[in-house]
Amino acid sequence: MLVPGDKSITHRAILLGSLASDDVKIIHPAPGDDCARSLAAVRAMGIAVEILDDGWILRGQGLRSLHEPDDVLDLGNSGTSARLLMGLLAGQPFLTMLTGDCSLRSRPMSRVTVPLLSMGARIWARNDGSHLPAAIMGGDISGIKYRLPVPSAQVKSALLLAGLYADSPVEITEPLPSRDHTEKMLVAMGAPLTKEKNVIRLEPCEELEHGRFTIPGDFSSAAFLMVLAALLDGSRLILKDIGLNPTRTGLLSVLQRMGARITVTPGKSDGWEERGDLEVTAGPLKGTIVESGEVPLLIDEVPILAVAAAFAEGETVIRGAGELRVKETDRLAAVTTELARFGVEIKSFEDELLIMGRGSYSGCRCQTHGDHRMGMSLAVMGLLSEGETVIEGVSCIDTSFPGFARTLDTVLTGGSAVKEVS
Ligand code: S3P
Repeated sequence: MLVPGDKSITHRAILLGSLASDDVKIIHPAPGDDCARSLAAVRAMGIAVEILDDGWILRGQGLRSLHEPDDVLDLGNSGTSARLLMGLLAGQPFLTMLTGDCSLRSRPMSRVTVPLLSMGARIWARNDGSHLPAAIMGGDISGIKYRLPVPSAQVKSALLLAGLYADSPVEITEPLPSRDHTEKMLVAMGAPLTKEKNVIRLEPCEELEHGRFTIPGDFSSAAFLMVLAALLDGSRLILKDIGLNPTRTGLLSVLQRMGARITVTPGKSDGWEERGDLEVTAGPLKGTIVESGEVPLLIDEVPILAVAAAFAEGETVIRGAGELRVKETDRLAAVTTELARFGVEIKSFEDELLIMGRGSYSGCRCQTHGDHRMGMSLAVMGLLSEGETVIEGVSCIDTSFPGFARTLDTVLTGGSAVKEVS
């Protein structure tokens, strides 16, 4: 079974590809609405894109070839588009306006606007610079030495994108490791980036080049199928060519610690991102403690981990998960409310989740809160529960995994367990 291309890597391939001196081919990109927003944004800034059967060719013309878009860029639900673009736009000598849907307009942006302002970008945004819509006038920016106040790959990436245009180095200290796709891609494209312990340093850059990015399957999308296969009696599922960058696979280690039977077969590396196959066989799970240091490595997998914990024997605690409160929805609140409808004993604290595992639950009517990862977690929860589950608001799943319901039907023998209704 193949899953869609990695969303995080696709966003970066689009933004960095648009700055390359020559054509960049992106094979197996993420198909959802989020990456379509990044693609539309670079097109609006003058990048020609050829659509192929298996991907796209971006016709970049160098770091300084973008032009002012003639309309507001609407980034939909995509936090990654918004924050990474803010960094890229800080280096562009023109005015750009950004907005998004009501979830994105409520998400905190000061984590990127504050350091970008101190690099010299001019940014006007609602609520004292903290929310979209925002207007950015970039150009003439200097480097920065910055310790990230939250372990955020989006903030780190925004500063690195801005750093491509700075007149002095950008040096970022990470309190905890977070996904490092931007660093890996910048190095692959020839940028003068180094990393020593938890300090990343980017020197001023002249040129980026890389002919082709073949995007691995999205570990975060595979996660839903992994948990389903780990818990559904008699299952055996093989997931092919999944991205296995260790800054993304925290869920794999936690599930294995809980007793899940998952075998990893490393694939052929192209010297850029780790990838390989995962084989999952069903078996009993036991509860575990997830410490805050592990959370950035499974930041998007907490809702589906809560589903796994609900079926594990004993208690599971997830600590230091406060960042979930500012995702597409408040995921700590949403997962607590929605899993409780199935009968799960679950409690959320300020930055912690506690789940008491048990064997069986009843299907129910529940809702996604407009959050794709909530939607897919609830679908897995419903399939593992007795009777029918109706999930309201599933269209948001298309932001990262269009065709998720069909994929579920394909992996489940019989093929009629999941119905999509409009
Ligand atoms: C992402 C980083 C994470 C993650 C998001 C995608 C990225 O956000 O939750 O879905 O592509 O950089 P933060 O960096 O804000 O934690």
